[in-house]
Amino acid sequence: MMLKIEGLNKIYKKDGKVALKDVDMNIKKGEFAALLGQNGAGKTTLINILSGNVKKTSGKVFIGGFDIDKNELETKRILGVVPQESGFDNFFSVEEVLKKQSGYFGIKNNKEYIYHLLNQLNLYEKKNNFIRELSGGMKRRFQIAKALVHKPEIFILDEPTAGVDIEMRHNMYDFLLELHKSGLTMILTTHYIEEAERLCDRIMVINSGEIVADEPKEILMDKFGREVRVSICFENPVDMRQWDLPTEFNGENAHNNQIDFKVDKAKLPSLLNAIASKRSDFVDISIEREKLEDVYLQLIKRRDS
Ligand SMILES: Nc1ncnc2c1ncn2[C@@H]1O[C@H](COP(=O)(O)OP(=O)(O)OP(=O)(O)O)[C@@H](O)[C@H]1O
Ligand SMILES: [Mg+2]
Repeated sequence: MMLKIEGLNKIYKKDGKVALKDVDMNIKKGEFAALLGQNGAGKTTLINILSGNVKKTSGKVFIGGFDIDKNELETKRILGVVPQESGFDNFFSVEEVLKKQSGYFGIKNNKEYIYHLLNQLNLYEKKNNFIRELSGGMKRRFQIAKALVHKPEIFILDEPTAGVDIEMRHNMYDFLLELHKSGLTMILTTHYIEEAERLCDRIMVINSGEIVADEPKEILMDKFGREVRVSICFENPVDMRQWDLPTEFNGENAHNNQIDFKVDKAKLPSLLNAIASKRSDFVDISIEREKLEDVYLQLIKRRDS
């Protein structure tokens, strides 16, 4: 197990806020897991505990088999973290910071690897610029290079794509997928659900400090993504209110000629039959599986109510 968390709790002393409640987690070598949760759910708290920046209240954490309470140095070496926010080394150049960071881990003469990282992250041209001279999105990419410079075994990214433009975000996705392919164990927090859907093979959802889902992506989708959306366009206007379809098929007019349904996958054939028996002027039909986003919204709603 690359990361093992048992009964982790965090209560912030200042206001008694329970930020993490009995969190268990097991991440295997080579996994790429997403940690999804709303603002304030506890994601950054969890990551800060792993990186040693926040003290846990109780529970056990093992990184690469090492207990963070007993083997801080080893766990720091195994871990690479891209923090959500960080005080920047503003008055050093990109290359200097990466050299300095390597030095902390006793690594010397790794210029080639540093340049390789900078190239991969489209930052090579900025290697002599001060950190304060980088744009917001460049700083995020720089943080990734900094977290990788000592070749960690577990790579954790806390919203790496926040504030990164679309093109660079896609470059970053390619880069992250490459890293994953090379065998790195990775955990990503993000508010872009489609990012988790696209990159990760395992989805964890945290809500008010509790893990409410933790499954391989496909299993989660099968378990919770039971509905499909069906949109049908007709050549002639159709009024759902005056249409006596069985009441279980609760459609809504999207506009005069289009009706959208949300039905259980299992009922799809009978819906299509029911419609075909009444109308034959279809011009377009689309059937969409639920997205991770729908499943995610269900999961966090279920807990709130
Ligand atoms: N230093 C602190 N002192 C007191 N409370 C804190 C502290 N840091 C975080 N919290 C509280 O703990 C809870 C979890 O915060 P955390 O930053 O872990 O959430 P998050 O899931 O990372 O949210 P976001 O998506 O907004 O980054 C919040 O209620 C937050 O106000
Ligand atoms: Mg956060």
